[in-house]
Parts: sequence; structure tokens; C-alpha cells
Amino acid sequence: MPRATGDSTAGATSDDARTYHSFPGAHYILPADELEKESFILNVWPFTCRLSRLNRQHRLIKRAYDDKLIWAPVNPVPGSAVLDCGTGTGAWLLDLADQVPQGVQFCGIDTESRFFPPSRPDVEFITSSVTALPSEWSSKFQLVHQRLLAVALKASEWPHALLEIKRVLVPEGWAQFEEAGAEPFNWGAGPVTARFHDMMSKLNASRGHIWNVTSHIPGFLADAGFVNVRTEVRGVPLGKWAGKAGCENRDNSIDFIRAVRTPVLKVGGFGYVSTGDEFDHFVAELKDEWDNTPGSKQNFAIFSVQKPAS
Ligand SMILES: C[S@@+](CC[C@H](N)C(=O)[O-])C[C@H]1O[C@@H](n2cnc3c(N)ncnc32)[C@H](O)[C@@H]1O
Repeated sequence: MPRATGDSTAGATSDDARTYHSFPGAHYILPADELEKESFILNVWPFTCRLSRLNRQHRLIKRAYDDKLIWAPVNPVPGSAVLDCGTGTGAWLLDLADQVPQGVQFCGIDTESRFFPPSRPDVEFITSSVTALPSEWSSKFQLVHQRLLAVALKASEWPHALLEIKRVLVPEGWAQFEEAGAEPFNWGAGPVTARFHDMMSKLNASRGHIWNVTSHIPGFLADAGFVNVRTEVRGVPLGKWAGKAGCENRDNSIDFIRAVRTPVLKVGGFGYVSTGDEFDHFVAELKDEWDNTPGSKQNFAIFSVQKPAS
């Protein structure tokens, strides 16, 4: 397997104290900086440790899915290989690597190398785009996983990414895609949340992305020639009304929203906000709505699909 290549940090752009990545041809909306990587203090008495927003998000999604990482009907066996596309901090991949028998090879790719943890003998991290995976990887992986690339891939890139993933799967291998925003799209029933979704739809559309990508994924998967689609939808409660878990999910979502502050303001705020203070007020209103609207939740969907035998 090729070693980690390239250093995507070299040309990263900085704005409003956040740093955005600049992998040639990639269009990721969120920052790629220390706040994404190391933003949250976890207190598990008697220990205190720092978790990245991405690692905390992994914990929250995993909890919503009964602590089960693989929903495709496949068990990685010694001698097989697993790929995680857009791996970020490698949270899903490393968690899985610690759960399966020795002898499985794990690989994480991302356009942003600054999120990578150190590689280890069974897990390596490689700088690459999911739209152009290494040519020597054809028919190599038993399982390919990809999570939360809605704000990373343009609508026009999804078909390329899915064909690349299908190419690198062994015949009858499985792919698992995880995204937020399954229909009915709902992070809460209130008017502030509805305004937030409209703003995010407009931001994503202005960049060529699809905010509610879960409603498009089944069509993309069929067009790419995948078969045996299985879908698992879960709702993650948001807000104080749902206790500790609701507060953790709310805080993670708010960190995500803060991460789009600069991209939203840069293009004028879509009529919802025009200054940083207005953006911060909007976020405070969202938090208040979720805290006080029982039933507020964020939906996630996991799609498992198989590459045909031939
Ligand atoms: C929201 S993060 C999700 C990270 C990880 N999948 C997780 O769930 O913790 C999206 C990741 O996709 C990466 N990314 C953006 N464009 C990409 C591309 N074209 N190919 C591969 N990764 C990409 C970003 O650098 C970022 O690490």
C-alpha cells in the first residue's frame, strides 16, 4: 500500500481566525484547524482529556447507532482490507481497527492531512481525494466507508466518488455511506431551525453542494450500479429537554454551525445575518429553540450497498 503522500497543510488559507484547507480541486466548506481537531474537553472522572469536534461527533453517532460501526452485512476477516474515505481524524477507522481480529489492513484517505493521527502497522493514512483514488487499488477492499461528506463533495462530484468507491471494492464487497439529514429533514420543529436549514441549503447550493444529500444518495447509488441498498435512519435528540445526551448533541451541532460562520458571512448571509454579531445571535436563538422544543432532533442515515459480482 502506498505510504502517506503530500502535505495538504502547505497552502491552507486562513480567514477570521479559522483555517480552511486547499487541496487542489477539493471544495470542503468547513475549516481544517485546531478547533475542528481539538475543541472539546471531556471530563470522565478522574480523567480529563481533549476530544476533537470530529471525534466527539463520532461518539455521538456511534451511540445513536447502538455502538455498532458496521451496518453492511460484512465482517472484515484477516487478509481483507477496509477503506475509510474522508476519514478526518480516523475516528471510525481506528475504532473499528480495535474491534476486529488481527490481520485486517485499514486505510484512511482524506484531502486534509492535518487531521491525521499517526499511522500504525495495521492502519495507514494517505492524502487523496475520493474522486480520484489510487489506480492500483482496483478490486482491493472488502468494505469502504464514507461519512459526512455532504459539505465536502459538489453535486457533480458524487457520481465520480461513488464510481471510484465501486472500482476499489472487491466484487460483492460492501460500501457504507453515512450522512445527516435523512427525510423528513428535521433538527427541530421551530421557525429558527427552519431559517437555519434554508440558510444552509443556500450556502451549499452557492458552492455546488447538496445540503439534504440523503434524499439524493439512493439515486446516485443506483446510477453508479450498486445493488442491495439497505437504509438505517436514526434520530439524535437535540437540546436540554433530552438530558445529557441532548446537550452533547446540541453542543456538537452548534460547533458545526460556528464552523460555517465565515463561509456564510463571506457571501452576505443570504438575508439572515450580515454581521458576526447577528450570526452569533442566530446561533443563540437556535440553541434556545432546541432546548425548549421537546422532540428536536437531527436525523442520520446509513446506506449500505453492494458491488455486483460482475
Ligand atoms: C465532516 S468531516 C468527516 C470526517 C470523518 N468522516 C468523520 O465522520 O469523522 C469531512 C472530511 O472530508 C474531507 N474531505 C473533503 N473533501 C474531500 C475529498 N474530495 N476526498 C476525501 N476527503 C475529503 C475533509 O477534509 C474532512 O476531513
